[in-house]
Amino acid sequence: MSHPHLQISPSILSADFANLERELGRISDADWAHVDVMDNHFVPNLTLGLPVVEALARVSPVPLDCHLMIEDPDRWAPGYAEAGARSVTFHVEAVRDAVGTARAIRAEGARAAFAVKPGTPFAPYEELLPEVDMVLVMTVEPGFGGQSFLVDQMDKVREVRQAVRRHGGEIWVQVDGGVSLDTIGRCVEAGADVFVAGSAVYGAEDVPARIDLLRSRAREATPATRPPGTRS
Ligand code: DX5
Ligand code: ZN
Repeated sequence: MSHPHLQISPSILSADFANLERELGRISDADWAHVDVMDNHFVPNLTLGLPVVEALARVSPVPLDCHLMIEDPDRWAPGYAEAGARSVTFHVEAVRDAVGTARAIRAEGARAAFAVKPGTPFAPYEELLPEVDMVLVMTVEPGFGGQSFLVDQMDKVREVRQAVRRHGGEIWVQVDGGVSLDTIGRCVEAGADVFVAGSAVYGAEDVPARIDLLRSRAREATPATRPPGTRS
């Protein structure tokens, strides 16, 4: 069921905001740095915005994976790509013109993705697959780190993975929220291949070791149905 290339995207929401450059340095073995942009409207929390993302992009040892939990992503999302984010995710619940927004992100040279909240079905958005490089299935209500993993979202992950298979091409399936050593295996089995983890990474004493461990847990959960290195 799963993709052979598993990636870890630690969320800096759980990092020390007074030392973000140092905190990015601790995840240099990860594939991405997940940056949660919250506007206190789309979600009841406020984090950081464009100028900070621009600054992070200058010092980050890994590419930035920007998750926009904001209203009016149509207006703001391309700016995050321009600011240096290599992947920009907007929420379908907030966007008006999903196709136009995804195209504008890609036009800035970034990967484009859309996210669905736990209560949002995927099926109405399947037609967007040709326009994106990744789909984010939220496994908590967006807004805060450290919440419990919503296992009932695994059916949606399976549904997205099947749709991606039917569609063809290389579209990643990301999960975000409550992903930990205990839950990452289920996400892999359901078909996710990009794992956001905030508290599970930054809550560890040895951050690089925790990233390694998450990776090996994910690998262990991968059914050995294909020889290594082959693509589905
Ligand atoms: C929640 C954010 C997540 C958050 C995940 O709205 O989108 O990226 O940082 O935190 P954990 O991994 O602690 O659930
Ligand atoms: Zn996130």
